[in-house]
Amino acid sequence: MRASSRIGDVEGGSSVKRNSVLFASASMALLVSSGISRPVRAEGHSETFTTYCAVCHGDDGTGNTEEGKKKGARNFTNAKWQASVDDARLIKSITKGHDKMPAFGKKLSEDEIKALVKEVRSFAVTKS
Ligand code: HEC
Repeated sequence: MRASSRIGDVEGGSSVKRNSVLFASASMALLVSSGISRPVRAEGHSETFTTYCAVCHGDDGTGNTEEGKKKGARNFTNAKWQASVDDARLIKSITKGHDKMPAFGKKLSEDEIKALVKEVRSFAVTKS
């Protein structure tokens, strides 16, 4: 059996148009689903994080980047570590630096740093 499902020769031009729209949404869906299937959610990513932090800590917060591995960047997805530090400590570390972690107190405002702490927290792998 064949040919009963041939597309494109029914309505001439307009069906061609419809097909390309279909194609476009299919590839969009692909893009979206590949985003969702990433092991760690990268939701709520700010431009600040992407600009200043991702080079070492990675888009996924694992620190699994070339720079991050060289310096030993903290893995934000580590639940034990997340539980062992409080927000005040993270604010201080980002503002003044911590070991090989550079200080950002001169580059970023207090509010930006507080927002980053929330973002760091959002990498934690939560189990419910
Ligand atoms: C040059 C690489 C580099 C960049 C850029 C960088 N970090 Fe880090 N970061 C590190 C390293 C290395 C550590 C581990 C140091 C430690 O835990 O003592 C670290 C640790 C941390 C910690 C844990 C500190 C603690 O108190 O345990 C936080 C939070 C953090 N980084 C946030 C950020 C944020 C937010 C940014 C962007 C504003 C950023 N980092 C940019 C390298 C970097």
